[in-house]
Amino acid sequence: MATNSQPLDFLWFIPSSGDGAYLGSDALSRPADPGYFREIAQAVDRLGYSGVLIPTGAACEESFILAADLAARTEKLKFLVAIRPGVASPSYYARLTSTLDRISNGRLLLNIVVGGSAQELAGDGIFLPHDERYLHAGEFFEVFNKLIETGSAHLDGKYIQAHHAELGLPPLQDPRPPIYFGGSSDAAIDFSAGIIDKYLTWGEPPAQVAEKIAKVRKAAAALGRQVTFGIRLHFIVRETDEEAWADAERLISKLDDATIAAAQDVFARNSDSVGQARMVALHNGRRDKLEVSPNLWAGVGLVRSGAGTALVGSAKTVAARLREYQDLGIDTVIASGYPHLEEAYRVSELLFPELGLAGPRNQIRSSFGKRQVFGGGGHGGNVRVASGS
Ligand SMILES: Cc1cc2nc3c(=O)[nH]c(=O)nc-3n(C[C@H](O)[C@H](O)[C@H](O)COP(=O)(O)O)c2cc1C
Repeated sequence: MATNSQPLDFLWFIPSSGDGAYLGSDALSRPADPGYFREIAQAVDRLGYSGVLIPTGAACEESFILAADLAARTEKLKFLVAIRPGVASPSYYARLTSTLDRISNGRLLLNIVVGGSAQELAGDGIFLPHDERYLHAGEFFEVFNKLIETGSAHLDGKYIQAHHAELGLPPLQDPRPPIYFGGSSDAAIDFSAGIIDKYLTWGEPPAQVAEKIAKVRKAAAALGRQVTFGIRLHFIVRETDEEAWADAERLISKLDDATIAAAQDVFARNSDSVGQARMVALHNGRRDKLEVSPNLWAGVGLVRSGAGTALVGSAKTVAARLREYQDLGIDTVIASGYPHLEEAYRVSELLFPELGLAGPRNQIRSSFGKRQVFGGGGHGGNVRVASGS
């Protein structure tokens, strides 16, 4: 189990459907631009993040292809890429997985996304009701895992038929890339207990996260397995608590009630995800009580589906909140903030030191050892400080 003394594994997020500075507004928004995703990936690779989550869905760039592009342009960064059972066959996903792991030099992490929108899944040709999707996923991963770990698999199942499937080239990671998963329903937890390495939750208040962790641990233990835990959160970290709260307000300052109502209506009609319902229940579409637990702010979820909460505060405050999650068993954080390039810098520069995380990789020397302070650069360079001062 993780303890406060072990540093968190800290990942960032690639906003592969677009980005912006104000939720629910076109002001200062950024389109889904491959060049921008490369900038973010290269920045976070250098800033010391261990990886990035690449989301999946009809609105996003295709995640395996995007990860392949970003892997070619980064050095250490890992890629948490989604498998959606049924969108392609287990054998095809095994080939995608193996090739991406090989060409990225073993930097692939897998995220099982079963899906929580009947409407979106129907567009992909998947018509199963909520709980049955997990039975289908169970058969899918019976084939996928056997194939990726041994090179062959066979199943004549209720949902999946894979006859003498073969995989010629194994992934670089032995026996396979780690498998992450998020899903809050009982069916999701039952499905995942025998398969996954890391369980992910969106950023619910600590008491609710504790309840989920206990459930998942119990289900895994019943199968003689252990699972580790991660949390997906937005961050608004500033030099002071006041500044952070002002910027949380600013993020939704151009968001009007009609836009909130329209977004909440879409979630209600199109989503059967238990995880999504738990996110909505934190605010119920109301903007007057958004601090749902100390420093945990549900403003993002007024219009964004999925991860809807942010930790808001100074680096010290936010680090203390993260330690509360760590005490529950969380060892991994998947973070984001709007806009994703600038906020990646803020989180790394302000929060990483508080968390004991290393910060920028490959730091190069900036002087011959004499003390200097930043003085604006340019023609004058830095300012040499006389020794002793
Ligand atoms: C960290 C995390 C990341 C997720 N990423 C995606 C995603 O990229 N695309 C998507 O459609 N669903 C995503 N989901 C949703 C879940 O995969 C799942 O399909 C959904 O919560 C429905 O399951 P449930 O009803 O069991 O909660 C994510 C969930 C979590 C916790």
